[in-house]
Amino acid sequence: MTTKYLLREDQIPRHWYNILGDLRSPPEPVLHPGTKKPVTPDDLAPLFPMALIEQEMSAQKEIPIPEEIREVLAKWRPSPLFRAHALEKKLGTRSHIYYKYEGVSPSGSHKPNTAVAQAYYNAKAGVKRLATETGAGQWGSSLAFAGQIFGLAVTVYMVKISYEQKPYRRSMMQTFGAEVFASQTNRTNAGRKILEADAASNGSLGIAISEAVEDAATHDDTKYSLGSVLNHVCMHQTVIGLEAQEQMKLAGEYPDVVIGCHGGGSNFAGIALPFARDKMNGKDVRLLAAEPTSCPTLTKGVYAFDYGDTVGMTPIVKMHTLGHEFMPPGIHAGGLRYHGAAPLVSKLVADGLVEAIAYPQKACFEAAVTFARTEGIIPAPESSHAIKAAIEEARRADAEGKTRVILFNLSGHGHFDLAAYDAYFAGKLEDYEYPKEAVERALTTLPLVQA
Ligand SMILES: Cc1ncc(COP(=O)(O)O)c(C=O)c1O
Repeated sequence: MTTKYLLREDQIPRHWYNILGDLRSPPEPVLHPGTKKPVTPDDLAPLFPMALIEQEMSAQKEIPIPEEIREVLAKWRPSPLFRAHALEKKLGTRSHIYYKYEGVSPSGSHKPNTAVAQAYYNAKAGVKRLATETGAGQWGSSLAFAGQIFGLAVTVYMVKISYEQKPYRRSMMQTFGAEVFASQTNRTNAGRKILEADAASNGSLGIAISEAVEDAATHDDTKYSLGSVLNHVCMHQTVIGLEAQEQMKLAGEYPDVVIGCHGGGSNFAGIALPFARDKMNGKDVRLLAAEPTSCPTLTKGVYAFDYGDTVGMTPIVKMHTLGHEFMPPGIHAGGLRYHGAAPLVSKLVADGLVEAIAYPQKACFEAAVTFARTEGIIPAPESSHAIKAAIEEARRADAEGKTRVILFNLSGHGHFDLAAYDAYFAGKLEDYEYPKEAVERALTTLPLVQA
């Protein structure tokens, strides 16, 4: 009975998979927030180094991973694939449940897979400092680590409610050498505008993005770095799915369903896109994104052009959105509180290649606790949405008298999220269903563009 499927260091993927090269219809163009015309590489140059802009727009199906990046990834990659024997036993399911564990990275999640790549290309382009936002702190600590490795200063705008809920994430970022501010701040015009309107605002990922973008755009030596959503970020994460494909071969199985939680889309894309390639080539595999009912971007949002941030400074992209002015309730899965989604994932949902489902947070914590008590890993609250979906898939298969092979991405551990577990055990967590009227209201805030 094998529990872990491990690959050698020399099996770290040598290429990222770029699904843009395989899509049958091209994605909608990214639009300039001012002119509302398609952006050019030069428009993006104040924010990103040219190598990443090229990756963002490339139609090359496989992009080589530089050796310098593979060497850093080797600190924790290839990450293990586990068969969840104990969870299966506890559920009494006949299905086979596998999980790819990204919590073995320096920050404890999948985020360093792209942080390392982004820091590398920025350092190579002579950039001195990176500005970014973070929700739960996973992304900020990942970029802080990667910045240190390649000699870059890192400034993090951390969503205020998370800054208060997760003080040790801030300590971690500082240990890795970053400076951290609770967003909204009075350092930027974007932050001051929000503070004037609502001094007690919890902050949101959308506001923190506005602040980081403004910081980068107004300093010559500084670029902006985003931990999710963008094409190149999703592509950097495909090392997860590419490794998982090799590990499933070692297990002698192929998944019926591949699951990831969904915030901005990067860990889901990371595990699912290599399998989406198989699906486009005729394989029978379902791809399932799991999100919170309190921020139901894919399941209740509209597929429309919208800004990536709150203030309307970022390019306009076609994605599932709850409206850029969406203010999420302070749910504990901070990394899933984003109004938009990766345009790539949105397109796959719209094209029928990817399914989405939403779960309330209490049911996800219940699944997380079952998982912790069987598999011995305390999951990040974000990842618990994928666990909940995997358990539901197994239960459904049992009810149908079927045996399914279920693969999910355990995107991170929850060692910095124990206050959220405390709140769950104390019965203090509330479920929240984002109302349909709020979605309809949000529609009125979308930028007017000629589709
Ligand atoms: C552990 C973990 N999983 C998932 C997410 C959601 O982000 P994404 O949808 O980009 O993977 C986050 C975001 O911070 C996270 O920290």
